[in-house]
Amino acid sequence: MKDKATGKSYAKIIWFGEHSVVYEKPAIAIPIYSVDVVATIQRIPTGQQIHCRYFDGPISEMAENLRGVKTLITHLVSLFGAQRLAFDLDIQSKLPAERGMGSSAATAIAIVRAFFDFFEVNLTRSQLLKLADIEEKITHGNPSGLDSATASSNMPIWFIRNKINEQIDFNLPTSSLVIADSGIKGKTSEAVSLVHDNLVDEPESSQPLIDELGKIAETARNALATTDDVLLGKLMTQSQRDLAQLGVSNHTLDTFCQVACDNHALGAKLTGSGLGGCVIALAKNQRDAQQISTALRKAGATQTWIQSFKNYQFSTGEAHDNLVR
Ligand code: MEV
Repeated sequence: MKDKATGKSYAKIIWFGEHSVVYEKPAIAIPIYSVDVVATIQRIPTGQQIHCRYFDGPISEMAENLRGVKTLITHLVSLFGAQRLAFDLDIQSKLPAERGMGSSAATAIAIVRAFFDFFEVNLTRSQLLKLADIEEKITHGNPSGLDSATASSNMPIWFIRNKINEQIDFNLPTSSLVIADSGIKGKTSEAVSLVHDNLVDEPESSQPLIDELGKIAETARNALATTDDVLLGKLMTQSQRDLAQLGVSNHTLDTFCQVACDNHALGAKLTGSGLGGCVIALAKNQRDAQQISTALRKAGATQTWIQSFKNYQFSTGEAHDNLVR
């Protein structure tokens, strides 16, 4: 066992396929390397303490809204037979919470990695995702697994629930993604239930939207392969229309998408669960990205990020199914 260890993970952005991914349609999501979570665990003389944005104190006294994280830590403590071990767990997160950037999944991934590093035990990717799911099931009810899969990946992923979780290689050398935080909390479990209820109550209007979102993700994968950013933009805007019809957009998100498109975005959509959270817009080049970002801030975005795709030009295959720490 080490005296001190860390685990890291990333914010995720769902580019295509939120909500439809819950119903086993494909999705494309990307990790945002500049927005990370770092969990640090170290030995202390007494107690088992946690320090994070929401709570500072003994793990046993963590509140109900942190039940997912608390259950995960308790599970890890018993997995490593560390009930009597005194330790301090510090979580530093650059992710805004409840904004569709996968904050809870990223926190869970960082914690699991920190524990395995601390106890010097190798961790496989499937083990990591299974453990993170302990937290996600409590926090989100019926998670597809996409958030954890992306938060733990060092590359964009192509994901089909319970079936496919693979890295994808693409090259969009000049385009960037502008991410804008609406400042409104997204409500993942509420949004997922809303879509579920719509599918039960009005299958004839809702199911085609889910099917179309799945088809859009497939077309987007081909557009990535052929570097067709104009088509990608169109597919984003079409996704936004479908998601709005499913009931998970709101006035602010619709307005942000419009503002982005009025400022040269190739397309724009909400990302994540919706009902708040973030909007993403595709910019042809860095200058357009700056203009879109400025316009979105003027329209009320509390924070914006510009993610260039240059960093995504990795070769496929490495690290994904191997050891992850
Ligand atoms: C939430 O970030 C993404 C959803 O598709 C739910 C999920 O995949 O579990 C809305």
